[in-house]
Amino acid sequence: MLSPKENEMLTRVGPGTPMGELMRRYWIPAAFSHQIAAPDCPPVRVRLLGENLVLFRDTGGRIGLVDERCPHRTASMFYGRNEDHGLRCVYHGLKFDVDGNCVDVPCIPQASEVQKRNILAQLKIKSYPCLERGDVVWAYMGPPEHKPEFPDLEWTRVPASQRYATRHIQECNWLQGLEGGFDPTHLSFLHRGDAEKNRSIVVTLYEVVPTDFGFVVGTGRDPGKGDILWNINLMLMPFHKIISSVPHAAHVWAPIDDENTMLYSIDFSPERPFTEAALARSTEGRGIHTENIPGTDRAIRNKGNDYLIDRAQQASGASYTGMKGLGVQDCAIQESMGPIADRSAEHLLACDAAIIKIRRLLLQTLKDHADGKPLPGMRAESYRVRSTRYEAPRGASFEATMNERVRVDALMPAK
Ligand code: FES
Ligand SMILES: [Fe+2]
Repeated sequence: MLSPKENEMLTRVGPGTPMGELMRRYWIPAAFSHQIAAPDCPPVRVRLLGENLVLFRDTGGRIGLVDERCPHRTASMFYGRNEDHGLRCVYHGLKFDVDGNCVDVPCIPQASEVQKRNILAQLKIKSYPCLERGDVVWAYMGPPEHKPEFPDLEWTRVPASQRYATRHIQECNWLQGLEGGFDPTHLSFLHRGDAEKNRSIVVTLYEVVPTDFGFVVGTGRDPGKGDILWNINLMLMPFHKIISSVPHAAHVWAPIDDENTMLYSIDFSPERPFTEAALARSTEGRGIHTENIPGTDRAIRNKGNDYLIDRAQQASGASYTGMKGLGVQDCAIQESMGPIADRSAEHLLACDAAIIKIRRLLLQTLKDHADGKPLPGMRAESYRVRSTRYEAPRGASFEATMNERVRVDALMPAK
């Protein structure tokens, strides 16, 4: 359980909020590259951390992410003309380049050249630097002097043939998503419904250890034979998860605003391209991906239709939830907690040990940020890690055994 104040601190992401300012110290996914596929193509709307923005690719292929509001009289730049190295507002023709400089002010023909130059020098539109990695456009919205290198996230470095990525909107706060992603207990209920079957077999241990990239969440099962079976999932600052699965997988909970989240889901193979069969498994909407309404980021199974829950399947036990797909099940249950879960109303149990530790670590990181202390994940190489499963003798230090297994030195070159 958290105090209302702590809950606010962890969940609010707008400008000037503690978590919002912390997240602005990291690269944030804004869109898939294919959404702005060609130079001078139509711009797209992007909402990130509560800010309304417009993304475009200029004539030279450079990417711009600017305020949706034109600084002249606040018209939407989304309707702008993307032409000749800039985005032109269609209300009175002001034009801006990808760095936010005003490069043309054609609505005052009577002004002298000097007056025009002065106006051009002063009129800027808010803009954020962007880059492309792993067929995703990433934005940096923090103080320019703190801009970190782009992290060595493995899934962004493999060739496109070795990656399958989708995204969908969750109508809830980002932290509900992240907590769901690191909640070890729900797997046997929400996703599998096999808790009864496994009840007598094992004792479960939870470890959450801070690292230079974020933290490691280990779930250990002790079948009583001397070895602990560890399942390791990684949280990379500020909202990435690397999932221990085959194929390898990752999530990114990028906050749209306080009450909406863009969840990116990625399957990837470090070694080889996906076979057709493997790709079919990813695309069928049965795994972490959702099937979306074509041309949108909305899942077909959504809150508006109760996720097409099938009560007959739920009753017969054919499906524990009656909802199809892991991604839909997570989305349904996380959205059901409300737009921002009220963590002061919870009754936490022993099975929530990992969640409690994660919240403490996030609160500590907020405090460190406020105190000007070094933040995890500022070094690109610290992201060279992989989730895994392994066995280790009971009594061995979790930290030591985990550390030697999650680090990956050989990554593909960035492209
Ligand atoms: S409002 Fe954009 S040019 Fe006037
Ligand atoms: Fe889940």
